[in-house]
Amino acid sequence: MPPTRRKMLRARLLAWYDRARRALPWRTPQDAQGAPDAYRIWLSEIMLQQTTVAAVGPYYAAFLKRFPTVQALAAAPREEVLSAWAGLGYYSRARNLHAAAQLLAEAFPTDEAGWRALPGVGPYTAAAIAAIAYGQPTNVVDGNVERVMSRLFAVEAPLPSAKPQLRDLAQTLVAKDRPGDWAQALMDLGATICTPTSPRCELCPWTDDCAARRSGDPASFPRKTPKPERPRRFGVAFRVEQGGRLWLVRRPDKGLLGGMLALPSTPWRDERWSKEQALEHAPLKADWRNVGSVRHVFTHFALTLDVLGARGAPEGDGEWGGVDALPTVFKKAALLTPPPARAPRSRRA
Ligand code: ADE
Repeated sequence: MPPTRRKMLRARLLAWYDRARRALPWRTPQDAQGAPDAYRIWLSEIMLQQTTVAAVGPYYAAFLKRFPTVQALAAAPREEVLSAWAGLGYYSRARNLHAAAQLLAEAFPTDEAGWRALPGVGPYTAAAIAAIAYGQPTNVVDGNVERVMSRLFAVEAPLPSAKPQLRDLAQTLVAKDRPGDWAQALMDLGATICTPTSPRCELCPWTDDCAARRSGDPASFPRKTPKPERPRRFGVAFRVEQGGRLWLVRRPDKGLLGGMLALPSTPWRDERWSKEQALEHAPLKADWRNVGSVRHVFTHFALTLDVLGARGAPEGDGEWGGVDALPTVFKKAALLTPPPARAPRSRRA
């Protein structure tokens, strides 16, 4: 790219960022002195993996209140960390965060490679932390940035095979000046203007520079190869209530929702369970009622969870508790209200 074009693209986006940047809780105010706090930046980047800014906000504040420093996080019992994460999803993030805190309590790495070596820190997160917390000119590329690049340069190659090309294009715009702002300006542009379905090109600082805009149909970028449908899986969860509390078990450490509290359930499999089959996994013998079903979409499959309810004294390991510490799929199951018993048809007048 000619240096003058590069310079102009950078100047336009950074000027827009100075005007329009989002005030987010992990961002230092524009007039703040000194380096941003790496613990806060790291925490925000881990929470923001696969999760929207809006969903992260309240969790971020509550988490920092509970674990204000990396030392406090490292010293906390794992159950407490998982319970502060409950509802945010992708719980291996919390387990890795806790493991990394124990490695970090002495000193933080100061470059991308050092961060990359920690559990839960992939190339995107390492690059983002190095840019935002340490001012290093890294290339921070996620799905938003890929979309922006695919449009700015009207890249015809489809995702996912276009990824290396989009990364190289993003690299051509990286420079030593304001690396943290550059990374976050691209994120904000992707999140607020250059959105997946209805880009707001009239507000975009690159509206005159964008090849996809000139093509007349910017939303048709990035081109994509169609995805196969998510497989479906089925399970049955057992809701045992007593005095407003629920019988909860802890899931095994390994695997999906590892280490989290949960309603007792059957394993999850490719076909629906009959009630009789499911009851072999029930935590007690009782007169189980059908409460209903919930659906929940995980990264690699969509789960339908049928819910059976009963009262009584369960057997085996478990504890009585509330819904707050439950991951979303079990929270949905716990809060499901049974269908009303069918009322006898009223006689017509
Ligand atoms: N997504 C991931 N990291 C982010 C950040 N620092 N600001 C806004 N959105 C983000």
